[in-house]
Amino acid sequence: MTLSELRQKYLDFFKSKGHEIIPSASLIPENDPTALFAMAGMFPLVPYLLGQPHPMGARLASSQKCIRTGDIEEVGDNRHLTFFEMLGNWSLGDYFKPEAISWSFEFMISPEWLGLNPNRLYVTVFEGDENSPRDEESIAIWQAQFEVKGIVAAVGVAGRDEPVRGNDGPRIYTYPKEKNWWGPAGQTGPCGPDTEMFYDTGKEHDQSYGPVCHPNCDCGRFIEIWNDVFMQYEKKADGSYVPLAQKNVDTGMGLERTAAMLAGVPTVFDIQDFQVIIGAIEDKAKLKYSKSVDGFDSEAEQANRSFRIIADHIRAATFIIGDQRGVVPSNVGQGYVVRRLIRRAVREGKRLGISDLFLAHVALVVIGLYGGYYSELETNRQRIVDEISKEEEKFAKTIEKGLKEFERMSREHMISGAEAFILFSTYGFPLELTQELVQEAGAELDVVSFQEEFKKHQELSRAASAGAFKGGLADHSEETTRLHTATHLLHQALRQVLGEHVAQKGSNITAERLRFDFSHGQKMTPEEIKKVEDIVNDVIKRDLPVTREEMTVDEAKAAGAIGLFEQKYGEKVSVYTVEGFSKEICGGPHVTHAGELGSFKILKEEAVSSGVRRIKANIGI
Ligand code: SER
Repeated sequence: MTLSELRQKYLDFFKSKGHEIIPSASLIPENDPTALFAMAGMFPLVPYLLGQPHPMGARLASSQKCIRTGDIEEVGDNRHLTFFEMLGNWSLGDYFKPEAISWSFEFMISPEWLGLNPNRLYVTVFEGDENSPRDEESIAIWQAQFEVKGIVAAVGVAGRDEPVRGNDGPRIYTYPKEKNWWGPAGQTGPCGPDTEMFYDTGKEHDQSYGPVCHPNCDCGRFIEIWNDVFMQYEKKADGSYVPLAQKNVDTGMGLERTAAMLAGVPTVFDIQDFQVIIGAIEDKAKLKYSKSVDGFDSEAEQANRSFRIIADHIRAATFIIGDQRGVVPSNVGQGYVVRRLIRRAVREGKRLGISDLFLAHVALVVIGLYGGYYSELETNRQRIVDEISKEEEKFAKTIEKGLKEFERMSREHMISGAEAFILFSTYGFPLELTQELVQEAGAELDVVSFQEEFKKHQELSRAASAGAFKGGLADHSEETTRLHTATHLLHQALRQVLGEHVAQKGSNITAERLRFDFSHGQKMTPEEIKKVEDIVNDVIKRDLPVTREEMTVDEAKAAGAIGLFEQKYGEKVSVYTVEGFSKEICGGPHVTHAGELGSFKILKEEAVSSGVRRIKANIGI
């Protein structure tokens, strides 16, 4: 089954169970200062999980583009990916555990759908602690499912770390919070117990991972395919767990991983789609990818690692640059991530003996594979190719400069860890490259002193980027909500003062300020800035009510709502109206009265690029 076929099967299944299929949201979260990228399917749904009605209803399903950068160094092994798709179905206060679990079971084992062997299925549930009891309800539902299939032994429940006994033993395992709970790590918000589904690959247990094998063992015998989260609590700032009025279901199934398991191949890189991408790299490389090889030592293993890194990184870079809110390589935020992905791919290409520019060729293959479902990749094809090629060319030169600098440094003595750090920080020269060069000269690089230098600098930058990689729920603090409403007021005021050509080109909110990019040809005069501020402050003073309605995109257009019409919307959208002032398509959240903003001030007005201006502004009490 190709990724497209599996994705379609999943969406069709949930459609048959009364779900509306929603398009993937952008990879780049809007108005969420706590995360660089969408990391799970539920990410764009946070306001709705917290109780706001979703315009498409209470049963939703999607395939969401996700990026997790935490594992970037692990990519190259047999399962880590930076970009992946998460299949998910949601109940927003509609169905709960019985339907969620029985549908998961049906989709996995019914021959009409995935047709997995139920004898190889293992599930885990929450074992209970002082905050929440053992999840007896999920246990009973799973027992009934297994029983219907005649797998009677499976109904037994095993404690954590009890060895798996195959056909004679229990299939339901309980684990503590670290394994069977999902929600904001250390943060407040909706959360709850989850039940995870694992498939037994039948692989022999590897004793180096522990004496006994069990579903959560990391030896690779069991593959996690799906996670059903039951959001029934809200974690409060004081650490308490309060039952939620609206109970939600949030499920997540990794598309690539499930495809690998269905195909019975040992790694995600062996699935058909990845093989096509790897084939595009082979076109340009002096080496070949060897399917059966999986390790890190031999030359073939090293080459496989390079192929995998390039395939993963260029797939991710294509999706980030080609996103509906695409980002290009730079030195900050998401832009830095794309830069890093492309540079690592260049470096790995060198290892494979590739001397020409080759990344655009790989990116085009990625667009070919995915452009059917993610049409933004087709729309942004040129930008993807241009940006990837530009960065590739630039870095290829950097590597050359770095090499010269390395030769200069090493003319008199073997270079030190501190010098290796200068090569790294000033010339963008990867550590492992320096290491190799030093080794070729018959010496060893002092990696410890390099790392000390690295840590010193990292500590400085960590404070600035704290929170940027935090997982879990977005921070929809009150301040962010107020700034979000202020953004709408600013947008409309700009249109009144500068003209109807003003359209949103970007928006970003941190707890300290809002930032709004819009189309306009020249610098704003002080009078224009003052006028815009006065209009917004007048709306705040009049305390105009902010209301929300649901309608189709056409109705929204007819009602004069502004919005990013090139963006994909579902069939129905939310429209926020500031009474008598503005109307805009938007996912929210917003305050209910303009007066809650207190006051409004523009801090800065500047150019971003030709024809695009940027305003930074803040609100007061
Ligand atoms: N939020 C859960 C996860 O990321 C289920 O979608 O695993």
